[in-house]
Formats: sequence, C-alpha cells, structure tokens
Amino acid sequence: MTIETERLVLRPFTEADAEDVFEYLHEPAVNCFACMKLESLEAARNELKQRQGDELYLAITLRESGKVIGEIFAHPEGNDPEDEKMDTFSPCWMLNLYYTGKGYAYEAAHAYFDYLFHEKGARRIYAYTEDYNLPSQRLCEKLGMRREGLFMEFVSFINNPDGTPRYENTMEYAILKKEWR
Ligand SMILES: CC(C)(COP(=O)(O)OP(=O)(O)OC[C@H]1O[C@@H](n2cnc3c(N)ncnc32)[C@H](O)[C@@H]1OP(=O)(O)O)[C@@H](O)C(=O)NCCC(=O)NCCS
Repeated sequence: MTIETERLVLRPFTEADAEDVFEYLHEPAVNCFACMKLESLEAARNELKQRQGDELYLAITLRESGKVIGEIFAHPEGNDPEDEKMDTFSPCWMLNLYYTGKGYAYEAAHAYFDYLFHEKGARRIYAYTEDYNLPSQRLCEKLGMRREGLFMEFVSFINNPDGTPRYENTMEYAILKKEWR
C-alpha cells in the first residue's frame, strides 16, 4: 500500500529504514512516544520487523531522496468491544524534527485521512494531543478537526523525579467522514 502526494511517498516500513527511524526515535520528541524510544540501531531493526505487514503503519518518505522523515499510523476501533464495524481511527503522527515547519506533516496527514475515509471505511477520525503540543493542535485544526474536549490529568507517560506519575492534560480533536472536504 503506497500513498503518493506532491512531495512525499507514504509506504510500509522495511528493515532498511532502521537508520532513518533511529535518527528520530532515539530521543522521542514528546512524552506520549517515550515508550517507543530506541536504544540502538539493532533495536530499530527489531522494531521495523514488527511493523512489517501492518498496512496502516506508514513511513513518511521524501519523494526526491527516499529518506524516511517520519511516520503515521492508526488502527481501526469499534465504539464498544461488541462493535463489528471498526469504523473509528485514531492516527498518531511524528516527524524527524529536522523536517518540521515545511508542511510535510499536513501533506502526509491529509493524504492519510483521505485514504482512511475513502479506502478503509473510516466514519470518524479522532486524535489525542497534549495541551502544550501546539504544533500537533495546529495540525489537527488545519485538517478541519473539531476540538471536542480537554481531559485533565488524563494519562501519564513518564514519572516525575520523585517517581510519581506525571499526568498530562489531553485534548481530543475529531472529524467525521461527512465533514471531510
Ligand atoms: C506535530 C508535528 C507532526 C507537526 O509537524 P509540522 O511540520 O509542524 O506541521 P505542518 O506540516 O503542518 O507544517 C507546519 C508549518 O510548515 C510551514 N510550511 C513551510 N513550507 C511549507 C510548504 N511548502 N507547504 C505547506 N506548509 C509549509 C507551514 O506554514 C506550517 O505552518 P503554519 O501551520 O503556521 O501555517 C511535528 O511537530 C512533530 O512531529 N512533533 C513531534 C511528535 C508529536 O508531537 N506528535 C504528535 C503527538 S500528539
């Protein structure tokens, strides 16, 4: 599965992407990806083996050079455990910070949303982002997502220096297929 845009190609990962992925995941930029931190190139190769075969876990690559500059992924969810429709998706996005501020995240996410709505049966797409993550909020807004709520001390990804959980305030944004232009 490949999605092409003006400047990007979104495609599944291969083991050959390990160096590029290690470049941005040896020190994840935000706490919500702390658990994805890679300690070594070997760990990156192992991680990429696990991602193979997942058609919704896509590398964001530059069309010109082929370099992997980030990733976008989502998995289908139902509204409750009995729900067979699985028409809800919650994408996560991350760029190598060197490549931010160039419109690549919007270009990738817009094409990915289009794919989810038109090819994967998405009815609703929602995203969680922390209250201090302004670039991610701005991206949600540019994608036409509605801010639906702010959950106070919703989740903890890391501990405080004294070992207690550091809770984050999380915003939820969403858009429905009928709102997608
Ligand atoms: C969130 C994240 C993906 C956003 O990336 P980004 O590069 O800031 O997002 P965009 O693609 O929207 O580009 C931003 C800017 O590039 C600018 N830009 C520069 N050249 C451009 C071009 N040719 N075309 C379009 N935009 C361009 C735009 O003006 C835009 O700024 P604006 O929104 O003020 O108009 C990125 O900050 C990131 O990876 N952060 C760490 C991981 C993270 O926080 N993930 C989300 C967890 S909830």
